[in-house]
Amino acid sequence: MFVILNKKLTKLKDAKVSIDDRGFKFGDGIYETIRTIDGKPWLLAEHLRRLRQSAKLLKMKIPLNNQEFKHHIERLIKKNRYKETRIRITVSRSGTSLIEGTKLKVVKAPNGVSAITFEGERSMPLAKSTNMMPSVLARIEAEKKKAYEALLIDRNGYLTEGAYSNVFLAKKGILYTPKDDILEGTTRDYIIKIWPRTKLTKIKAKDIHTYDEIFITSSTNGAIPVVKVDGRPINNGKIGKLTKQIIKLLPYGTKKSHKKNQTR
Ligand code: PDD
Repeated sequence: MFVILNKKLTKLKDAKVSIDDRGFKFGDGIYETIRTIDGKPWLLAEHLRRLRQSAKLLKMKIPLNNQEFKHHIERLIKKNRYKETRIRITVSRSGTSLIEGTKLKVVKAPNGVSAITFEGERSMPLAKSTNMMPSVLARIEAEKKKAYEALLIDRNGYLTEGAYSNVFLAKKGILYTPKDDILEGTTRDYIIKIWPRTKLTKIKAKDIHTYDEIFITSSTNGAIPVVKVDGRPINNGKIGKLTKQIIKLLPYGTKKSHKKNQTR
């Protein structure tokens, strides 16, 4: 397998980063995770826009322009030859840039997943920083409780997002998604566009179970239904109608193409 390290195609085993890199020493970097659909990076422009927004917020420089990113990503996809690729861009404040292209693994959850709530706040949530400690701890707690995702609750008791995803709740054909202090996910933005009856709002953690349906979204997995939160079922533990509809509306969301994109 190959990676692109500092603009050079490099064998994975030869790809080395300095011990002085601030990404290693302080988690001082930014990243993006992108998936391909039919071999092409999906929502690439949106991901690159967000990478630049993260850099601006964290006062960092990005050593590649968008043309270079596109060129190197396409080169890597061709070289590694996976059916579908999960691309990860990492840039550290020390100027290191890394583009990885690994085999895409989509989570299989035909009956939905469980989630827990977890009190935690990502610092500067609008930036996609490599410093993910609240999410790391939230996922450790989720694993302990045999749940797939942790839903982050802020100090005022509001639901913000998943540890590594955004969250949508549904009631009577309307989607609700937290408005503030979140990473503005590319999948979230896409769903807001295709489902005009979406309200960006504030949601109290204590009200989660008053909603009919919940799903989480991310680039790699699209929308995953959540059928249980903190051990209590949502929609009697069944995947909701609107959730199914949204999954179908995503470009890889039909049963056929979803199966096609499964890599494990
Ligand atoms: N995570 N919120 C957080 C905290 C995330 O880490 C992610 C994505 C999202 C969803 O954003 P998008 O739809 O653009 O993927 C929201 C990626 C998948 C990751 O950490 O690899």
